[in-house]
Amino acid sequence: MAEEKMLMKNYLKSLGREVIPYGNASHALRDILVYLSAKRRIARPNIVLPAYIPAKLYRAIAAAGYQPRFYAIKDECMFDCDEIDMLIDNETTAIFGIHYFGHPTDIIGLREIADRKKIKLIEDCAHVLIGSTKGRPLGTFGDFAIFSPRKMLQLPSGGFLVSKESLDNFSRSSVKRANTISTASKFLGTRLKRVYYKFTGCKDIFHLERLPKIGHFDPSREASIFVKKMSPVTSAYLKVTDIRRHSFIRKQNYNYLLDRLASLEIMKPLFNDRPKDWEPYSLPMLVLVGDRIELQKRLMNSGISTGLGWPESPFGNKDRKTRNLSQQLIELPVHPLMLKGQLNNIVETCVRFEQDVIRYQNSHGVPVATNE
Ligand SMILES: Cc1ncc(COP(=O)(O)O)c(C=O)c1O
Repeated sequence: MAEEKMLMKNYLKSLGREVIPYGNASHALRDILVYLSAKRRIARPNIVLPAYIPAKLYRAIAAAGYQPRFYAIKDECMFDCDEIDMLIDNETTAIFGIHYFGHPTDIIGLREIADRKKIKLIEDCAHVLIGSTKGRPLGTFGDFAIFSPRKMLQLPSGGFLVSKESLDNFSRSSVKRANTISTASKFLGTRLKRVYYKFTGCKDIFHLERLPKIGHFDPSREASIFVKKMSPVTSAYLKVTDIRRHSFIRKQNYNYLLDRLASLEIMKPLFNDRPKDWEPYSLPMLVLVGDRIELQKRLMNSGISTGLGWPESPFGNKDRKTRNLSQQLIELPVHPLMLKGQLNNIVETCVRFEQDVIRYQNSHGVPVATNE
């Protein structure tokens, strides 16, 4: 018998008592932080969070009136629990942990610290749809979790707050919804692009691809974000979309790329294990030798849009490993809108890039500088 569809909202309801839709995940974070500091009546609250984050998360935290206390992110996106311990004081309301690119972080370690210090744990599941670690679903370890269907389902907007317990006196600060027309037109744009690539044999003949913008946040200026409710377009899409199918295709695409790229010498996958219980947002690779921007441009020219993680980071903590991560990473897309031809274009472009870098090394008689 065919498996029943798994809808996002139903899945999230199985994770916590309250599920609150938002315009974006960062809007949910801003509201829950304001709620926590008001509850504990802390005038200058702080949050302990990783130094490797997108600028928009920093903005959400600052907009909630919080000071950030950054901890370093090391190999395979892990961290040092002792460092986190030392950053916590009486004005810390929460620890924030990220399941980077869908890969489960040491959320059990973070839970233990939060319990011992009697503060809250916020679990960032922006790169998670269905995932688990040690047999328990991601999103159930934190007192709160944020999810981003925007990122995981290729939507222009959409986020959720999941709370383990019922929230008393919590109110969403938004009054307006994310713009319906803009959401609908961007949504159509992403789906039409797939049709375009089907017709062109995965060639970007009209040069539609653009390099993504790099986030920016200036902590010396006052931050504000405009918290919004979920757009009706996103809500409607979530009512019909089977997230189990999405999850399955993401894993399949990840493995397809990994099988062909894992043996490259100048770039290597960020994580050593394959997605089994967890599901990937992208395939993050570290470009150890050569210019990753050059690779990003070559991929764009072959019709592939790639992110670079968060080159605007690290914030606060300037640990060498965190900095390397921010300067070496490239995210190869594995989402379900990708066509097989596009996956092959990724492989071809990466292999040719490696050959060119090695040829350059050999012809100049010197190794190309490593990106460390
Ligand atoms: C790890 C992580 N957390 C949270 C967010 C925020 O998600 P949203 O764009 O839905 O606000 C992002 C977005 O880039 C992210 O990458």
